[in-house]
Amino acid sequence: MDQGHNETPRVKRRIEELGPWFQNLKIGGLQTAPDHFLGDYPTFKWKGFAHVLPEDLEGRSVLDVGCNAGFYAFEMKKRNAGHVLGIDTDERYLAQARFVAEESGLDVEFRRMSVYETPALRERFDLVLFMGVLYHLRHPLLALDLLWEHVVGDRMLFQCLQRGDERTPALEENYDFSEWSLFDRPDYPKLFFVEERYASDPTNWFIPNTAAMEAMLRTSGFRIVDHPEREVYLLERCDRHYAVEPAPVGRHGQD
Ligand SMILES: C[S@@+](CC[C@H](N)C(=O)[O-])C[C@H]1O[C@@H](n2cnc3c(N)ncnc32)[C@H](O)[C@@H]1O
Repeated sequence: MDQGHNETPRVKRRIEELGPWFQNLKIGGLQTAPDHFLGDYPTFKWKGFAHVLPEDLEGRSVLDVGCNAGFYAFEMKKRNAGHVLGIDTDERYLAQARFVAEESGLDVEFRRMSVYETPALRERFDLVLFMGVLYHLRHPLLALDLLWEHVVGDRMLFQCLQRGDERTPALEENYDFSEWSLFDRPDYPKLFFVEERYASDPTNWFIPNTAAMEAMLRTSGFRIVDHPEREVYLLERCDRHYAVEPAPVGRHGQD
């Protein structure tokens, strides 16, 4: 992402016009979010789990869901991915991503699209990135189901905000209807619901504890291949534990 010194004022002005930025990207000597509350984000996060993906993606296709300004999509292209598509619902972030693509010369496509619309792509991607999006969704399991059913070809790199207990208890497959105390165990899978705001963000809806996060991924048909960081998982698409298809029409009336 180099350019001559005489380009610097233009790039600086454009960075300001396109702000505020959530991701700190480097364009020449300039940074898009140097004062990010999390530090040099997402570079410092990426360093903690970059090793779980191949250094050479050998032309594999990549979909970055909730790509924001494209940080991870660009990293995949730098690793020799083939077609890289970044999608996001927020046009302001997509404008940032397209600007960085132009300045860097990295061939990444960006489209406005929700995770719920991804079946319309009619394509399975070798690698899907689904980082920092699930807790922003009102229908998290629907998103995981759709990605499994239509979009993930092989692997998915996944991150989700987690709060609460970090243990993953061994549980029975079934408990009696009279069992109540189980639900008071801090380590029982729990999905906290945020009615108003968490971290001043009204788009934070469901925040899982660790046991719930891993159970949700398993029941959606994803096997945990690697868990390099507290909230980050490398997943492999596999057979589902059990069917989640809608019951045949009329079934409940006949039961
Ligand atoms: C916390 S940011 C994470 C950005 C990036 N993936 C990362 O890890 O740095 C969440 C992103 O998800 C996007 N987003 C929210 N709802 C979405 C949806 N339904 N489909 C696709 N993207 C969505 C937001 O616009 C935002 O860019």
